[in-house]
Order: sequence, then C-alpha cells, then structure tokens
Amino acid sequence: MYSKLPGKKFTLNQDNLGINARILDVLRSKTHTYISGEQLSHELNMSRTAIWKHVNALRMLGYKVEAITSMGYRLISSPSLLLPLEIKNGLKTEFIGHHIHWEYEVSSTNTLALQMAEQGAPEGTVVISESQKQGRGRMGRNWISQPEAGIYLSLILRPNFVPMQAPCITLMAAVALVEALEQALGVKAAIKWPNDVMIGGKKVSGILTELKAEMECIHYMIVGIGINVNNAEFPEALQAKVTSLLLELKREVSRIPVVQALLNALERWYLITLGAGGIERTFNRWRELSSTLGQDVEVNVGDEVLKGVATRLGADGSLYVKLDSGVEKQILAGDVTMVANV
Ligand code: BTN
Repeated sequence: MYSKLPGKKFTLNQDNLGINARILDVLRSKTHTYISGEQLSHELNMSRTAIWKHVNALRMLGYKVEAITSMGYRLISSPSLLLPLEIKNGLKTEFIGHHIHWEYEVSSTNTLALQMAEQGAPEGTVVISESQKQGRGRMGRNWISQPEAGIYLSLILRPNFVPMQAPCITLMAAVALVEALEQALGVKAAIKWPNDVMIGGKKVSGILTELKAEMECIHYMIVGIGINVNNAEFPEALQAKVTSLLLELKREVSRIPVVQALLNALERWYLITLGAGGIERTFNRWRELSSTLGQDVEVNVGDEVLKGVATRLGADGSLYVKLDSGVEKQILAGDVTMVANV
C-alpha cells in the first residue's frame, strides 16, 4: 500500500486516498474516545483486517493512531506533511485541489504536472511535494527546495484562452498568493513585477507558469508556486534579497492552512478572471497589490540595464517604464530592482 523508502521518503498509493480519508474522518469525529475495530469495519464496510492494514499505512505517513485491544483505535496526532488527506480536510473549492498528487521528493512539481497534463489530468489537479531535486525558477534559475521547509506545488489549468491572454493567469496567481498569505497568516505582502511576492522588500514566493498551446488555443497551463515557509536561512549571496515566513513572523508556520488558503484563493481568482470583465478586475487587483508601479526602478533585460519609473501594466502583462531620457519602454520579461530615493 505505502512503501517506506530510505530516510523519510514514501511512495503513496493514490488509489487508497479515499479509503484513508474516510478512516480519518471517522477517527477525527471522536478523538476523545476509542472507536472499536468492529464499528470502523461496519461504518466503512470493510473487514477488520483491512482496517488494521490501512491504519498501519496511516501510521507510516506519520499519523499517531493508538490501538488498544478491547477498546479500539484513537487518533492522537496528524503529521505536518502536505498530504492530500490533510489538505482536502477543510478545502472550500469546487474543483481546484480535488485531485492532489503528493510525492515526498520529485525532480520538479512543474515537470511532473506537465507530464500529467499531457496524459489528460483534469483541470484543478495539484501536484505537491515536500522536496524538489531540480526546482525550477524563472529565466532558467534554480528554486531552492529544502525538504519539508517550503511549499512546492503546481496547478494544472485549462483556460479557454488564446495564448496572448496567458500572462493574466500568472498575474491572477500572484494576486491569489498575496490574498492567501493575508488570509492564512495576516501577513501583508506585495507583488513585484511580474509575479514575485515580497515581504518587506524581500522575495518570499515565486511563480513559474508553463504552457502548451497552439496559435488559437491553450491546451493546458501549469502554474508552479514556490513559497519559502520554514527556511531558517539562505545562502549568503541571497540573504539580502530573499526571506521566509519563519524569518518574517519569527515562528514556525504550519504549511497546511497556507496551502488550503492558496487553493481557495486560486479558485476564486481563476473563476473571476474567466468571467465577463474578469481580466480587467484581476489586473486592477494586481495594480492595488503591486509594489512596482510608480517606483524608480532598474530593469535587467538581458545584458542591458534600464533605469526609469515603472508607469503602468500593459494589457498583455508587460511593464511600461519611463526611462530617464523621457522615452516610455515596454518590458516583456526582465528582472526589476526598486531603487531607493535618497
Ligand atoms: C521564480 O523564479 O520566481 C519562480 C519560482 C517557481 C518555483 C516553483 S516551486 C514549484 C514549482 N516547481 C518548480 O520546479 N518550480 C515551481
């Protein structure tokens, strides 16, 4: 059912998620008392031996389930891993996160989600992992993916959009991320163009969107989101630019409520974006949450460094910068640094 790999790695048989969720539901309904094997077997319509096997499988994932002969089972505690069973318990969405594929370690959740989308995974499927060996960032960079410290997830979407409209999906994901951090933790974050989520001027989260499309339609989009949650430190070269929720809040943060708030917010903003007038609404919310617009900026575009004031967001998600020479330049991709006014 589950096989324990060396260290804290597991493979999870996705087929048993439904049964295990039902066992957990029953155990959670009565944590103050024991539930007999017979009662569980009756409520779930399976043999006591099968119940025992599933309870053992849950234990391997870190659930502490007490079992006392003649009394029964009792759930003592749940693990902090981002298991589908935990994420779904409390999720308020219609379709996002109804299929969650969890692995302890992957190369990149985006790479796996691309494969799953190609094989027909439904819209709203989430791929999530505790660790990535080759987490990918924008512009060919790496994404530091320390085991069990961050949130690494990829969402499969199939919007009925033309490829030119794809950037608004990335912008809507940034909006959802900022709102989720506020909702789950009361943290005030801001968006640095195009989609870096910042706290106090340091990056806490990034989004990598990839897609398969033809001229006139998008087949699927993968929205990959990385959040630095319980990272206690970063390589020295990054320390001035990068932060984590732990460093900002000065306490460990439980990742599950953050993932739940994120999936709820993603569905809300995705449906808004798809609706009539929705793209403009998403753009307006992005503008409200932006820390870039109106600021003096330096933009690295390839080898060139452009200096000026970030004036506006283009309809295609591009950034307009009024250069010191007075010329307004459209930036399609690049790295923005805010320049302090002294
Ligand atoms: C950025 O450079 O700001 C984007 C970072 C995106 C990282 C996330 S982590 C989950 C998903 N899988 C990846 O390999 N990358 C994205």
